[in-house]
Amino acid sequence: MFGEGRRERKKLQKEEPLIAVVMVANDYFPPLFSVAPMMDWTDHHYRTLARLISKHTWLYTEMLAAETIVYQKGNLDRFLAYSPDQHPIVLQIGGSNLENLAKATELANAYCYDEINFNCGCPSPRVAGRGCFGVRLMLDPKFVAEAISLIAANTNVPVTVKCRIGVDNHDSYNELCDFVYKVSSLSPAKHFIIHSRKALLKGLNPAENRTIPPLKYEYFYGLLRDFPDLTFTINGGIASIDEANGALNAGAHGVMVGRAAYNNPWHILGHVDTAIYGAPRSNVTRRQVLEKYQVYGDSVLRRYGLGPTVRDIVKPLLGFFHSAPGNGLWKRKADSAIQTCTTIKSFFEETLVAIPDSVLDSPVLEPQSGRGDLFANIHSLRPPPYRTRLDDAI
Ligand SMILES: Cc1cc2nc3c(=O)[nH]c(=O)nc-3n(C[C@H](O)[C@H](O)[C@H](O)COP(=O)(O)O)c2cc1C
Repeated sequence: MFGEGRRERKKLQKEEPLIAVVMVANDYFPPLFSVAPMMDWTDHHYRTLARLISKHTWLYTEMLAAETIVYQKGNLDRFLAYSPDQHPIVLQIGGSNLENLAKATELANAYCYDEINFNCGCPSPRVAGRGCFGVRLMLDPKFVAEAISLIAANTNVPVTVKCRIGVDNHDSYNELCDFVYKVSSLSPAKHFIIHSRKALLKGLNPAENRTIPPLKYEYFYGLLRDFPDLTFTINGGIASIDEANGALNAGAHGVMVGRAAYNNPWHILGHVDTAIYGAPRSNVTRRQVLEKYQVYGDSVLRRYGLGPTVRDIVKPLLGFFHSAPGNGLWKRKADSAIQTCTTIKSFFEETLVAIPDSVLDSPVLEPQSGRGDLFANIHSLRPPPYRTRLDDAI
């Protein structure tokens, strides 16, 4: 599971106190729940907002190409710096040039990320077309193992992999297992984050590649059965806390949520600490979060010359009032205020009149119910157990 110093989630018993996961000194709760790396979305601003809502969620950066780190050597803070309250935080690196991956890791090491994650799941032609990069790497597990070994040799934190369940017609359960088997036996990677749908390299754009290929959670649970010494985090299509808990109860070591955590941060992240980590309920309100976010926003505005702009800083808030009274009017006001306001303070003064005090001043309500039974029969759907090539040879 999650290595030394990180404790497993205990099953909540009625008579037990609410703290269900024990934190040890100088460590964090394990990554039972993380927000996915999302380019242009999980930037420093979004992560600041996310951390104001949830203390324990693991946060991933956007993918950073090794080349960007290497070529921007004199400008690294802009890409790699983050405020200390963003721990636990994982840097996702992408690339296929071994020398650059090694150099980039060495440079990033000074920033003390908690883990480094290697991208083997991105289908974007901007990425996948540039040599062997992103999800294409799944076709070459030996190279992935070599890359991870090099990354690991240049950092002192764990290195993990985020991948799909397959690429194009290389989509059988056995091929996925071959990938996991080779990478985990030839490199120090022992934690795999599995976006549980395959990617198609031709014919689908990146957004379609996140919706059209069907989710096959049964592959994920097959991996849990067939690689009991490895750690697996499930990703893809999980849209509520009920579903996240359903995945954990079915045996997943961790759950990673992307779009739902971005589009509805208050209702998703607002429940993670209590419903996933068993922490006592917090009474933090949206108004308190926004007050802190405003101080942050105004302190970083135009830090790098023209940017970040008011628009950049406001962007992660666009789902903050998801389905709340006043949301529609707030969005219309936000649309015009983004053009005219020169500070985040004035942006809030102009727009928050649209939101009733009752919304701004109440703590997060009960979790919205989701498909809690999404994983109920998943074990019976798992593919037949993996037989390694070694078994075949015997
Ligand atoms: C806008 C956007 C950007 C993304 N960028 C990345 C990325 O940089 N690296 C990565 O591994 N996955 C990226 N993804 C994929 C997500 O990490 C995640 O695997 C995918 O959205 C499925 O999870 P979800 O259904 O919970 O959103 C991105 C997804 C979105 C929506």
